[in-house]
Amino acid sequence: MQAIVSIGLFTLVTLVASIEYAPIVRLRNGRVYGMTQQVENGGKVYFYQGIPYGQAARFGKPQFAKPWSGIYNATYYREACPQHGLEQEPFGLGSKTTNISEDCLYLNVWRPRRNRFFPTRSVMVFFHGGTYKTGTIFSPLYDARHLANLGDVIVVSIQYRVGPFGFLYGNTTDAPGNVGLHDQILGLKWIHYNIARFGGDIAQLECMNVNMSSVIECLRNKTVEQILSVTKGQFLKNQMFLPIYGDELMPYKPSDALKEGKLNFGVDLLYGVNENEGLQYANLFVADQNNITLESIKESIKWMMHYYGDSSYSDIVFERYTSELLPNASKEMLLATLGNVWEDFIITCPTVLFAQEYAKKSPGRNFYSYRLAQSKCLNEPTLLSSGDEQVCLGEDVLYLFLGLDGKGHSTPITFNPEDRQLSKDMIYAWSAFAKTGHIRERFNNNRYWINAFDRSTILNAPITRTFNLNFTDYQMVSNMYNQSCDSFWKDKLFA
Ligand SMILES: *[C@@H]1O[C@H](CO)[C@@H](O)[C@H](O)[C@H]1NC(C)=O
Ligand SMILES: *[C@@H]1O[C@H](CO)[C@@H](O)[C@H](O)[C@H]1NC(C)=O
Ligand SMILES: *[C@@H]1O[C@H](CO)[C@@H](O)[C@H](O)[C@H]1NC(C)=O
Ligand SMILES: *[C@@H]1O[C@H](CO)[C@@H](O)[C@H](O)[C@H]1NC(C)=O
Ligand SMILES: *[C@@H]1O[C@H](CO)[C@@H](O)[C@H](O)[C@H]1NC(C)=O
Ligand SMILES: *[C@@H]1O[C@H](CO)[C@@H](O)[C@H](O)[C@H]1NC(C)=O
Ligand SMILES: *[C@@H]1O[C@H](CO)[C@@H](O)[C@H](O)[C@H]1NC(C)=O
Ligand SMILES: *[C@@H]1O[C@H](CO)[C@@H](O)[C@H](O)[C@H]1NC(C)=O
Ligand SMILES: *[C@@H]1O[C@H](CO)[C@@H](O)[C@H](O)[C@H]1NC(C)=O
Repeated sequence: MQAIVSIGLFTLVTLVASIEYAPIVRLRNGRVYGMTQQVENGGKVYFYQGIPYGQAARFGKPQFAKPWSGIYNATYYREACPQHGLEQEPFGLGSKTTNISEDCLYLNVWRPRRNRFFPTRSVMVFFHGGTYKTGTIFSPLYDARHLANLGDVIVVSIQYRVGPFGFLYGNTTDAPGNVGLHDQILGLKWIHYNIARFGGDIAQLECMNVNMSSVIECLRNKTVEQILSVTKGQFLKNQMFLPIYGDELMPYKPSDALKEGKLNFGVDLLYGVNENEGLQYANLFVADQNNITLESIKESIKWMMHYYGDSSYSDIVFERYTSELLPNASKEMLLATLGNVWEDFIITCPTVLFAQEYAKKSPGRNFYSYRLAQSKCLNEPTLLSSGDEQVCLGEDVLYLFLGLDGKGHSTPITFNPEDRQLSKDMIYAWSAFAKTGHIRERFNNNRYWINAFDRSTILNAPITRTFNLNFTDYQMVSNMYNQSCDSFWKDKLFA
């Protein structure tokens, strides 16, 4: 491992004055030092960046990283896993790293600097998004310093293999598929073994209960670029490499596991969606953006159902989502319609329906549902007007991580006091939930965020309550997804 230094701390501090180092932590595999980061009001957090947790052969399951001697320099970012388009990472923020390497199983750890009476802190774990195809923990979007500081929690973000490197399925022991998920699990195990050394509370991770237990040959000889080229420019279209089920890791179809009670039930959940999850994807599904017609929308829906669902219901979906469109509907309205289908089908309904079914089998647990309706939309959709009124995919992450100052990325956004307030409210609520499983906060409009379900109705006619996060006028709303999800998508998604 190339980045290891083997000098004592004394030398280190005197030689390099520009970095303010964080204390050395002795991990199972070796020692690391990190750096301090500034937060609000002159505060600081300790940040250990790019700690290697695993290693893996191409397409193979990962193992823990080898022990090292000396002290590992965890003060700078490392490589992302092989993928395209790191320069235009989501949100136009640009990634810190544009280098890729197959040796990419790194994680980041933030911990509040201040000491406190209690011996341990709760741990929040973050897996980056990117449809299993892109993403890196070294994106400025995922800078968790404010979350760690204000929430008084330890935050760990885990990088995992994506695209063909993470999800090529060879049905052999050296290319078993789902290795990107195996990476995630190894990262969780690393936390289990090491986080106490950062003052983290491993008791809370104890309930983690995950079962671990010739084309390929040719692909082994290819370069990273050759393998990646297969997926170039195909963001959501074919050539997808996704998690599979039926293997040792995910033996059942997830919806069957949910129905048949073969999941790890009984865990509190905080879950939610943004108001316009599908919007910025809509144009990826149309062949010619300048020539969108009702007919081409029909084709796109057919295509979407074919790849991600079941073609047999594409006509019903088309009817449902276009029946109220006037014949003179604008291009923007047609695209928005397609965005609505994608949103309900792929993100919103699977999320809320999963939670509902999960809750039925988890009596006595807490469920907190949110919908973000306040926006700093950075994903200016290509054809749709007004970014700021739309709340796009991932914006909740933006508020949770960056919202306090809106700084730290290449496209500056202005955060007004309402944005800062939302950001703080989210950090306090999320971290309280991570610590206790409850959110008891009274928000500044005197509202409480209450449980999504009532114990008395959950089994029969569940009322689902969602906390609508809208410009500090937060409201609990009942049955927000009743029409779209319960009535329309449920039987299709859980068929
Ligand atoms: C650790 O890495 C940083 C960033 O590359 C570098 O500036 C610093 O000198 C390194 N520390 C030591 C002790 O080599
Ligand atoms: C990225 O690659 C360049 C050129 O090879 C190298 O100078 C730089 O140190 C690399 N950055 C990281 C984070 O590895
Ligand atoms: C994987 O291989 C096993 C044994 O060789 C075979 O029974 C099974 O059908 C294969 N699975 C797939 C999805 O090809
Ligand atoms: C999962 O692990 C449990 C024990 O923790 C075991 O009883 C069960 O058979 C495992 N399931 C699979 C599919 O391996
Ligand atoms: C892989 O490359 C090695 C050495 O370049 C070669 O001997 C071997 O035949 C190649 N294997 C395949 C399957 O192409
Ligand atoms: C739009 O598409 C239709 C049908 O595919 C085609 O006949 C027409 O020429 C296209 N118009 C433009 C401006 O490309
Ligand atoms: C579309 O037609 C309706 C009446 O049929 C009209 O009220 C509306 O203004 C029209 N919209 C546009 C964008 O032309
Ligand atoms: C936010 O709430 C206000 C007042 O209830 C409402 O008028 C407005 O439409 C809401 N905005 C969004 C984006 O939901
Ligand atoms: C939708 O909500 C109403 C109450 O507002 C309820 O009576 C009805 O059963 C719900 N429908 C579904 C499909 O859950």
